[in-house]
Amino acid sequence: MTTFPTTPDAPTSPTRRDFLKLGWGVLAGVAALEAGLASMQFALPRVSAGEFGGVIGCGPVDDFPAGSVTPFNEGRFYLARLADRGFLALYRRCTHLGCAVPWDPARGQFICPCHASAFDGTGQVLNAPAPRPLDRFAVQIIEGQVQVDTSRPLEREQFDPGQLVYA
Ligand code: FES
Repeated sequence: MTTFPTTPDAPTSPTRRDFLKLGWGVLAGVAALEAGLASMQFALPRVSAGEFGGVIGCGPVDDFPAGSVTPFNEGRFYLARLADRGFLALYRRCTHLGCAVPWDPARGQFICPCHASAFDGTGQVLNAPAPRPLDRFAVQIIEGQVQVDTSRPLEREQFDPGQLVYA
């Protein structure tokens, strides 16, 4: 039987270099985890359905008679149903300097309390200084239910019947 000369065993306790490698590995892992969590937060919607910035369920089509204007305060819009039964969601934010514009049912107009801009039931400007009609939000009717997407106000230069949505 052949025997080989033995050498002393390598040291088993971690060296300073091993310790630094481990430390860098842990730091890299934590950084990767934080980056992953930040990406997830960015990808997830920041608002819930039913809140301003999300999709608001307004209820059944038949709840809105022709010629009605219904406020949805949580969504910051009015749901108008015109005489021809078309739906239009109007952002309540004045296009002049952003004041909330109330609906005046007696006059059939939106009248801004800040500088007296007035808008008709389609959001068209009747009285300056508002520079353009009230912005609108996209309306969808799904299985007889009206939904308004408040994620993005849609600017327009004027009212157009193509903006109306029908059941
Ligand atoms: S903010 Fe509405 S008229 Fe000025």
